[in-house]
Amino acid sequence: MQPYIICDNQMANNDDLFKKIIAHAKEYGYIFPSSEIYDGLSAVYDYGPYGCELKNNIRNYWWKSMVQMHENIVGIDSAIFMHPKVWKASGHVDAFNDPLIDNKDSKKRYRADVLVEDYLQKIEDKIEKEVEKASKRFEPFDEQMFRQTNGRVLEYKKKMDEVHTRFAACMEAGNWDDLKQLIVDLEIVCPISGSRNWTDVRQFNLMFATQMGSVADGADTVYLRPETAQGIFINFLNVQKTARMKIPFGIAQTGKAFRNEIVARQFIFRMKEFEQMEMQFFVRPGDELQWFDYWKQARIRWHESLGIGSDMYRYHDHEKLAHYANAATDIEFKFPFGFKELEGIHSRTDFDLKAHQQHSGKKMQYFDPETNESYVPYVIETSIGLDRMFLAILSKAYTEETLEDNSIRTVLKIPPVLAPVKVAVLPLVKKDGMPEKAREILNLLQCNFMCQYDEKDAIGRRYRRQDAIGTPFCITVDNETFENNTVTLRERDSMQQERISVNNIENKLFQLLKFKIQ
Ligand code: GAP
Repeated sequence: MQPYIICDNQMANNDDLFKKIIAHAKEYGYIFPSSEIYDGLSAVYDYGPYGCELKNNIRNYWWKSMVQMHENIVGIDSAIFMHPKVWKASGHVDAFNDPLIDNKDSKKRYRADVLVEDYLQKIEDKIEKEVEKASKRFEPFDEQMFRQTNGRVLEYKKKMDEVHTRFAACMEAGNWDDLKQLIVDLEIVCPISGSRNWTDVRQFNLMFATQMGSVADGADTVYLRPETAQGIFINFLNVQKTARMKIPFGIAQTGKAFRNEIVARQFIFRMKEFEQMEMQFFVRPGDELQWFDYWKQARIRWHESLGIGSDMYRYHDHEKLAHYANAATDIEFKFPFGFKELEGIHSRTDFDLKAHQQHSGKKMQYFDPETNESYVPYVIETSIGLDRMFLAILSKAYTEETLEDNSIRTVLKIPPVLAPVKVAVLPLVKKDGMPEKAREILNLLQCNFMCQYDEKDAIGRRYRRQDAIGTPFCITVDNETFENNTVTLRERDSMQQERISVNNIENKLFQLLKFKIQ
């Protein structure tokens, strides 16, 4: 008999949920703190056996949809080190800064903007709680209670608007004295010391610098790239010419990026070493907003094609634009700690190519055979953090279910195309020729699918182990296999089993695991 799921519990308390996800990721070989035997390194993480598979699969899913599915997008793999002038031209040397503030009592350093954002988040949480409480209390409808709740929510909203307005003004003008004053006025305290004894706000550049060349030769300061995008811009002409690309066309790249993030938090959400998947799409000047809309839609479709629910995503259109952009939006994901940026889509105008043209003295122009004109193309960028995407998938996948027999099943409901292990092949018992038959099936499948063989412990425990790592399918060899050449195929989420012919396993898995990329 199949066990029934009585209750599918994505858990009431999000803090608890997040802690459980982090613990699960470590216990099941997804993510380890870096240098753990030396007590770890802040905001740096290592991916374990299942983690690196999931990461590869996400990267591959992105690459297929961007490069393989688009005739007019090609990929590159540029070096992490670039000429230091690249970062001068891009504006990162002068302006890639975070405003930092120290608490004089705890000696802890914070991002001043994050302190205010956290304050705003707390008000937003209060509003959500009021609304949630009210929805339970208003049956039967009580007008007085309704008015009181409404009044409180309006008060909170008014406060949020006021803070938002002041905050946006400080950030826009880079007025750090006002930002400090805002922190003081809001009576924000240091979470460690509980005091309001703050230093002034100072600017801190996020790039990691190192030296290239020997001291005798006169070493140059080079930077670990803080984004992969500049490697695309500086190769624009090389790629356009060698791949004979015609505008509109895109260049995609995945790879490591490095930022000296002072405020390390939320696990792999904000890291010092992380991976980006970026695509720069070069268009005719004047066409950029139309392409911006196109990529805005295309990227949300990509996310939704994974089938984890469109309610998990929302757009956040930027009101305040970076100096180089004429439109920008974030695709935000509902992480356990709230909606946060997952991907950015930016209309970057011709800022980057023009800046490189100016600093390098090399023309960054495209001759358009359709209009007989040469111009510096405009650019639409799509930029997503691979680690952030990983966290989105993992946090949505983590589920605890109470089964009919009151046992708890922990299962990672990772979309099957992304799952680290696709199939587990299991002999029902370790005798009667079952292990040999199971290994025969394993040999048949492992060329095309990431498989696992497991014969240790009772079958129920082995199913739970596969559930915990998110394996979507288990194939079990049992006595009947020798009677009619069939096996059972168990599906992870429903736990339903069906009998299928051994001859049909490969085809069936190909169907179930087919890429359906938008
Ligand atoms: N080239 C544009 C660019 O780098 P960004 O908004 O700074 O834009 C793009 O970064 C994406 O990279 C973000 O949406 C996020 O997913 C990811 N990302 C940025 N900083 C990160 C960090 N410290 N840790 C993990 N992911 C990060």
